[in-house]
Amino acid sequence: MASEGGRRSVCIVGGSGQIGERLIRAFAARGWSVVATHCRTPRPGTLPLDACDANQVRALISRLRPGLLVNSLNAPGGTDACEDDPALAQRLHLDTARHLIDAAAEVGSRFVQISTDYVFDGRGGPYREDAVPAPLSQLGRAKLEAERYALARAPGSLVLRTSFVFSWAPQTGTKNFVMQRFDQDRRGEAIRVPNDQVGNVTYAPNFAEALVELVEAGASGIYHVAGTTRCSKYEWALRVAEFFGMDRRLIHGVSTAELNQRGPRPRESGFRLEKAQAALKRTRLMSLDEGLADLEEEMALVQGARQTR
Ligand SMILES: NC(=O)c1ccc[n+]([C@@H]2O[C@H](COP(=O)([O-])OP(=O)(O)OC[C@H]3O[C@@H](n4cnc5c(N)ncnc54)[C@H](OP(=O)(O)O)[C@@H]3O)[C@@H](O)[C@H]2O)c1
Repeated sequence: MASEGGRRSVCIVGGSGQIGERLIRAFAARGWSVVATHCRTPRPGTLPLDACDANQVRALISRLRPGLLVNSLNAPGGTDACEDDPALAQRLHLDTARHLIDAAAEVGSRFVQISTDYVFDGRGGPYREDAVPAPLSQLGRAKLEAERYALARAPGSLVLRTSFVFSWAPQTGTKNFVMQRFDQDRRGEAIRVPNDQVGNVTYAPNFAEALVELVEAGASGIYHVAGTTRCSKYEWALRVAEFFGMDRRLIHGVSTAELNQRGPRPRESGFRLEKAQAALKRTRLMSLDEGLADLEEEMALVQGARQTR
């Protein structure tokens, strides 16, 4: 995967996002030459790219010719926006992936697609990699098609499915669940959280390190990479509240049926992680508490640095 001056080179699409931003750091820490892109939210050093535009993608990738291309793009608005507008799911989750996979195949870049447990119906989790997908939502269907396209069009591609991702990320445009909890608690806002949507809670920096390690080990095909704590969103919210001394009384666990979410979500979802754990030698997949402890440390460092300025 050498190209730039003998260094391994990677292009990260979605570098201004929660996971993309951590991938930049994780690859750089391992000595890779990193180029990353943003779409609407410029970040220092990132290049603009709208991956809906196949010509823009082809032009950028044929100019950079990275050894590795990582697709960490996500559509604004998530599952509900995709359900409201299936064309959006198609355009942002599938067409963008196809453009990137085609461009990677044309210049011989290895390809990594980040995917989700929403490819499953949530009737039989936790899922192994060989479980039969059955997406419930427009988003899940588009992500599954993107996985299949990558594996067929660019053999050697790596597909990493993850779920319930969080990190200290005040700088990224979309607020992850834990960052939302900080805001809601500060405002004294009561929240209703599903107590029957279960997944593996994943700390983004840990996911990023695992992704880099799997790439460096030459892994291909599908891997489930997530945190080791599998719980409902309600339990997740309670644990965050407990950990950071937030007001637990503001958190109300309700059933998915009561929430009336527009996009259907899998209930008993989440992953079996044995395949990734066997392949990972230096990265240990973290529990929720380990992720929260790391996040707290990072938050304190950032706030301490601000105060000494
Ligand atoms: N977050 C989770 O809980 C979770 C769970 C399972 C799987 N995943 C998967 O993880 C991946 C990354 O998610 P994330 O949480 O890091 O997402 P995120 O924080 O919302 O970031 C999304 C990134 O995609 C970029 N983007 C959006 N539209 C684009 C376009 N048309 N062309 C190029 N870039 C575009 C955004 O750029 P701008 O901000 O600059 O517009 C941003 O950098 C996705 O594949 C997602 O399905 C996430």
